[in-house]
Amino acid sequence: MMELAYLPLALLTCVVCLSLHYVANKYRERQADKAIADHHGCLPPPRLQNQRPFGVDRLEQIFRADAESRLMELFLFHFRQTGSTLEQVFLGTKAFGTIEPANLEAILSTNFKDFGMGPRRAITFPMFGDGIFTQEGPAWRHSREMLRPQLQHKQYESLEVFKEGVDDLIDCIQESDGVIDLQPLFFRLALDISTAFLFGESVRSLRTPDAVGEQTFANAFNTAQQYVTKRYRLLDLYWFIGGKEFYQACKYVHQFADTIIDRNLSPDRGGNGHNEKYVFLDTVAEKTSDRIALRGQIINLLAAGRDTTACLLSWTFFLLVRHPQVLVKLREEIVSVCNGRSDLTRDDLRNMTYLQNVLKETLRLYPSVAVNTRTAVRTTVLPTGGGPDRKSPVLIPKGSAVAYSVYAMHRRPDLYGMDAELFRPERWDEDMPFQKNSTNMKWSYLPFNGGPRICLGMDFALAEAGYTVVRIIQRFQTIKLPPGETVELTGVEKQVMTLVVAIADGCKVEIR
Ligand code: HEM
Repeated sequence: MMELAYLPLALLTCVVCLSLHYVANKYRERQADKAIADHHGCLPPPRLQNQRPFGVDRLEQIFRADAESRLMELFLFHFRQTGSTLEQVFLGTKAFGTIEPANLEAILSTNFKDFGMGPRRAITFPMFGDGIFTQEGPAWRHSREMLRPQLQHKQYESLEVFKEGVDDLIDCIQESDGVIDLQPLFFRLALDISTAFLFGESVRSLRTPDAVGEQTFANAFNTAQQYVTKRYRLLDLYWFIGGKEFYQACKYVHQFADTIIDRNLSPDRGGNGHNEKYVFLDTVAEKTSDRIALRGQIINLLAAGRDTTACLLSWTFFLLVRHPQVLVKLREEIVSVCNGRSDLTRDDLRNMTYLQNVLKETLRLYPSVAVNTRTAVRTTVLPTGGGPDRKSPVLIPKGSAVAYSVYAMHRRPDLYGMDAELFRPERWDEDMPFQKNSTNMKWSYLPFNGGPRICLGMDFALAEAGYTVVRIIQRFQTIKLPPGETVELTGVEKQVMTLVVAIADGCKVEIR
């Protein structure tokens, strides 16, 4: 009895000891961080002001802007209001944001080892499972090595892998009444090309969307992504968002990946030439027979290759029909390079320098992955952005999230000129302010990220987009804005933000 009476006291002593231990640890961490800050001369960056305690208003602002389809406008405004590197309190936790090329170089390359994906894996796992996007360390390196041979130039140099999908796309456009929303078609095209290239056989969703359950898959993929994006916004509190609809959508996405596995790895498959070609799925299947592991790799790659390229194509035509003089110039280049030939080659695409500029300019204004985040795995330092002149190094304590928005960086007038908001492909043949500094030269334009985790599909995506744009322009003599469609300043139109940034009202064109 005596012993039981002492229990509350013992528990209290335990709690006090643990708390003291925690406080002492925190104190030691703070002192160590302060020593690093002093050593590097770090000063805090400007702080984005909060109106309500714990930065709750920030979350409200984000959800409101998202509901109004103008999230990127809000982020742009934050950086313009505060500075290119900023600190903010987000649900009671300090977090950082930057659109400074020198800091991006540090995060993505020079101090790569100091940053990890933070809660990305936990946030996306129900949808993505295990794959290149959600992995880190040796597992990530292994996935990258398996994928690399697939994405070598020689695998798509003939452009053959794009042909069937683009033929199907042109058929779909021809069957329309002359006014069509290209965006959903580009999503199907990118799905068909990705499945043909990475998994051995196209799902041909442009031809028979119902038969392959494309609509169910596309809806489920979008729903699951919307949840994942909302979970991202809460960072460590991501688990607040989930529920039946999310898990059901993830289940459909998984079922779709399973059908790809069944189609492409069944023993009676054959006659599609897998033996001669490198097919990523075959390589993964050789290393594991575990369906869940295979499924994860498939979903990760569909996410990498489908939405990103579909958004690039959609924004390209969205901009072209709003800038008819650019379209005329592009058409002239296509006619002059192809010189009456209909069989397009990789060299033709390389020789179309204006086409390359159009794609570059589209990805500047609308980089598919507009915002990204990394988390410090140890206390580290960003080279610039702190202090009254915003040039001092900035301390990033272990565990802090650093968000970076290439969308906002690509619109900085001090990097791209006073007309940075305008769609003007010609700028890529002129001198631009960022070219005056060697760091800015390498790190001001990052639609494909940079450093060791740079996009593996960059060249493939540009070949796919270039080929598609040229084939459409060659086939259709009239491509223009349909009556009634609005023309707004770039960046003011409504956007849908998931892991990529798409056009809220689609990409409607009159095309004949
Ligand atoms: C216009 C089209 C594309 C854009 C703008 C784009 C952009 C990006 C970006 C920004 C990342 C970095 C993500 C991060 O680390 O947080 C990335 C990674 C990646 N992309 Fe792309 N991508 C495109 C198309 C593709 C295609 C078609 C493929 C493959 C077929 C692909 C494969 C990958 C892979 C595998 C990664 C992960 C690399 C790693 O973590 O090591 N991408 N992409």
